[in-house]
Amino acid sequence: MTHAETIESRLQETRKFEPPADFARQAHVPSRAAYDETRRRSLDDPESFWADIARGFHWFAPFSKTLEWNLPYAKWFVGGKTNIAYNCLDRHVAAGRGDHPAIIWEGEPGETRKLTYRELLGEVCRFANALRSIGVKKGDRVTIYMPMTPELAIAMLACARIGAPHSVIFGGFSVQAIVDRVEDAESHVVITADGGWRRGKIVPLYQNVDEAAARCPLIKKVVVLRRTGNDIPFKPGRDAWWHELTANAADACPVEPCDAEDMLFLLYTSGSTGKPKGILHTTAGYMVHTNYTARMIFDLKPDDVYWCSADAGWITGHSYVIYGILSNGVTTLLYEGAPNFPDWDRFWAIIAKHQVTKFYTAPTAIRSFMREGREHADKHNLSSLKLLGTVGEPINPEAWIWYHEVIGGRRCPIVDTWWQTETGGILISPLPGAIATKPGSATLPFFGIDAVIMDRAGNVQPPNSGGFLCIRKPWPGILRGIWRDPERFQKQYWSEIPGVYFTGDSARQDEDGCFWIMGRVDDVIKVAGHRLGTMEVESAIVSHPAVAEAAVVGVPHEIKGNAIAAFVTLVTGTQPTPALRDAIIAHVVTQLGAVARPDQLRFSQAVPKTRSGKIMRRLLREIATTGEVKGDTTTLEDFSVVASLAQKDEE
Ligand code: PRX
Repeated sequence: MTHAETIESRLQETRKFEPPADFARQAHVPSRAAYDETRRRSLDDPESFWADIARGFHWFAPFSKTLEWNLPYAKWFVGGKTNIAYNCLDRHVAAGRGDHPAIIWEGEPGETRKLTYRELLGEVCRFANALRSIGVKKGDRVTIYMPMTPELAIAMLACARIGAPHSVIFGGFSVQAIVDRVEDAESHVVITADGGWRRGKIVPLYQNVDEAAARCPLIKKVVVLRRTGNDIPFKPGRDAWWHELTANAADACPVEPCDAEDMLFLLYTSGSTGKPKGILHTTAGYMVHTNYTARMIFDLKPDDVYWCSADAGWITGHSYVIYGILSNGVTTLLYEGAPNFPDWDRFWAIIAKHQVTKFYTAPTAIRSFMREGREHADKHNLSSLKLLGTVGEPINPEAWIWYHEVIGGRRCPIVDTWWQTETGGILISPLPGAIATKPGSATLPFFGIDAVIMDRAGNVQPPNSGGFLCIRKPWPGILRGIWRDPERFQKQYWSEIPGVYFTGDSARQDEDGCFWIMGRVDDVIKVAGHRLGTMEVESAIVSHPAVAEAAVVGVPHEIKGNAIAAFVTLVTGTQPTPALRDAIIAHVVTQLGAVARPDQLRFSQAVPKTRSGKIMRRLLREIATTGEVKGDTTTLEDFSVVASLAQKDEE
């Protein structure tokens, strides 16, 4: 299916699903009228709206001003002092919920661990003391590169407790990605593990960190969790075992009262230039936004067993595996491994075993399950489920309906949640008891969110006209900047259309005001919901010694949404061979990780560029998708290049 067809099919989608009556009856937002009323209030006076919600948290000092907005810089809950880890843990223990499960964890080999709120608090305190014992202070950036184990959550919360911002790197990334992020963040401490389980194999996390440390002298201390028990070339002095550091650490650890605007974390993501950018989130606004959106959108209740299958290395994991869920005192489930290990029914087995009530995953996963057949789900009793969610990429109506029927048994509302690393939390989503859903649409903006579709000139578009998705007013979870790059922050988000936040997505709003996201309009490709910058992949390819130049585009892919197609020009005198193509692909995987593996790689004489030197990605996309070129080539520098590209060399 081409991109145009995808948009077309969603344009024709007219099915509508009202919130199930029994769900609506018990929901936080029980009707469309309730949504409309709260939304009006939230837009009329966003500051008092958010201030009321913020007062529900524990503050060491109250805030004096709700919002200070000096475009493009927002400060929320100014003057307030709080701590997100305290609000996720101590607060619930103090309220008598210390025995309630905070984390249910399942390792890929099948072991289960449960940690109550009291136990989790104890672990977090011990590890926070351990971090302090190796010299970590407030404001120090700590890099975390770990498998999905309870210790990953413990490490993040321990950093938050002592005011040391974390920078979590997804365990699927590899050496160069670690080096780039550690250098940019100037981080001296890395927390990792001997390995993690993925499809029955050990992911060599420690080896990657070790190699990164060899290239990057900034890394002074490596804390290693023993997870898989395999032999590693442990370096005494630089390395410390997690269990040894925590063995004698005290159970109590004074909490750091953080300023509302103290940095909570950096999370690197791809944008339209080569290097990933450190998205900066602060304490109080992020806490309030993730907590409140989670409560309303997942309709969280005290006895929910909530499972978001995202890795904590992505923003979804930060906001809706850890912070937004634990701050609500709800049980969050963590699963370490692959969805198809040992078989394609693993997710459904987990849901049945742990009686999961709310389940949040990505369209790519749903499409993979759909392809494997419903018999895997049908083997398990999924009747504990009450609500389903999706995130990360547009969901095609077929996959939505499959999810609704096969997983949700036609009774569970589906929340298709639109947001970004930069937004901190969800901005557009149905409220499950209030908003009628339409397969493929994220429906309506959340309370306080002023989302619009604009053209380049900043004119708001009429219904059903495509345009750029923009947000006109700041919200509490908004990024506070790109780490050490204010110019890029200004340029990327605030200059395309002056005065409004530019999301980089194209979308339309239908006649009911529902948003239909079409995709990215910049050089970002969403592959299996993961965000990759074309230039990031290009520079990984070019770092192979045989490569002179490279261009990368996204092409539609049935399961992954998009796949990567690469066009590669070799250095003079090098022969294009299948072996070289495989070697270049393998090189990209070593540099960036398997998420960036190109599906197609073609050799070409040169990369087509406009007269001003810009790579003609539209043209390449066309070649990669259809094998031929029909579009306008009048600005092309060298016409002969096109003909040579259209032939699939070596295939
Ligand atoms: O293109 C949109 C897509 O994911 C982008 C943000 O990617 P990332 O920062 O990695 O965050 C993903 C998880 C929040 C957006 O610009 N996207 C996210 N959610 C949706 C979506 N596209 C369509 N529908 C969604 N529900």
